[in-house]
Amino acid sequence: MKNILVVFGTRPEAIKLAPFILKARQDKRFKVHVCSTGQHREMLKPLLSFFDIVPDYDLDLMKPGQSLVDISMGVMKGVQDILSKHKMDGIIVQGDTTSCFVASMVGFYNKVPVAHVEAGLRSGDIYSPFPEEFNRKGTGLIAKLHFAPTEVSRRNLIREHYPENSIYVTGNTGIDALLAVKKRLHENPQLHQEFSSRYRFLNPTKKLILVTVHRRESFGQPMEEIMKGLVDLSKREDLEILIPLHMNPQVRKSAEKIFGSHALWAQSDSQPSASKIWLCEPVDYVPFVYLMDRAHMIITDSGGVQEEAPTLGKPILIAREKTERPEAITAGTSKLIPLEQNSFYQTACEVLDVTSLYKQMSQAQNPFGDGSACARILDVMAESL
Ligand code: UD1
Ligand code: UDP
Repeated sequence: MKNILVVFGTRPEAIKLAPFILKARQDKRFKVHVCSTGQHREMLKPLLSFFDIVPDYDLDLMKPGQSLVDISMGVMKGVQDILSKHKMDGIIVQGDTTSCFVASMVGFYNKVPVAHVEAGLRSGDIYSPFPEEFNRKGTGLIAKLHFAPTEVSRRNLIREHYPENSIYVTGNTGIDALLAVKKRLHENPQLHQEFSSRYRFLNPTKKLILVTVHRRESFGQPMEEIMKGLVDLSKREDLEILIPLHMNPQVRKSAEKIFGSHALWAQSDSQPSASKIWLCEPVDYVPFVYLMDRAHMIITDSGGVQEEAPTLGKPILIAREKTERPEAITAGTSKLIPLEQNSFYQTACEVLDVTSLYKQMSQAQNPFGDGSACARILDVMAESL
């Protein structure tokens, strides 16, 4: 039996590693140890309780407004402490966060093989997204096994001269998680009812535009251009906008500055039509899937949301200059939207108003996986770790 340490710290890592942890726990070939770095706190907690995961180690690192160096030092020391006490046969990390990169570096210093889930994504610009493009490249240098979600990401790794026999195309584990949640929503009409009651302030006669933004490279002016474009968009009669606000204080500062009286914080007794822009706290994963499913269109700079929306048949406008997920653009389901108020508004209106474009974007096929990524990863790890 192989001892594996799964390390995650943020909301998207927890979502994408939860189905892996649950499956690995039922697999007799592995003994699974779970470490949450706690890089996120509030945004992580409901996920762990939904997936019924209690970390064996919680480094509890979250501090408001923490710097990248603070996080790195905490992850380094915390993961080192675990490896000093327990011999592991492998460390599993996901994606591109600071928790992911630093945990893999500690693995390397201890000569513990690292398996990288969601390997090979590249924007080609080390500063965009920042610091994620570096984090994923750095993790790639260290990893023994690269689990690429798509053929495009596999080719990126081949181009960087990684040995072909260390790269496996598995699909994205985020799709495994999404399909499991979709199934739960489908099988449980009460959940649907609960969420429709929770969001009763949304006007059913308006098209819902769901928005999330949080990228570090957009802080300040670019993010404020997006927000000004959203204020313009909210003046259309046919739609309303809901923005679950990321907890990063930089995002909140810009939101307060730009939305001001144009937006309302949604309350349990908020009345439909009281606002055209609704703000709310980050939404737990299951109701967020409900909201994505209910949305007419999604505007986001999130990596995970770009991957999930095609499975739900929703057009995505990517509020970024570059994306490391070009598959969705090639498949025709997403489009980059300029980070300048007027062009932002015009691009959004084009997708809303040109019926053939909207239809094409909502009917494109999901290029990111079939829901069996975790099973594939476990089989490779059993052979190769
Ligand atoms: C992090 C990741 C990013 C990922 C994102 C997912 C890094 C460098 N960044 O960015 O790759 O896309 O998570 O959401 O790894 N906060 C809370 N409670 C929480 C979470 C965050 O209050 O549960 C606030 C804190 O003030 C914290 C700040 O948000 O200091 C920023 O959190 P941090 O993890 O440093 O960066 P994110 O922008 O969340
Ligand atoms: N998500 C969520 N609640 C929200 C916003 C996003 O559960 O209010 C989910 C979303 O479905 C996706 C993941 O969080 O699975 C994406 O996280 P985020 O955008 O924070 O990070 P990224 O994917 O950009 O790294």
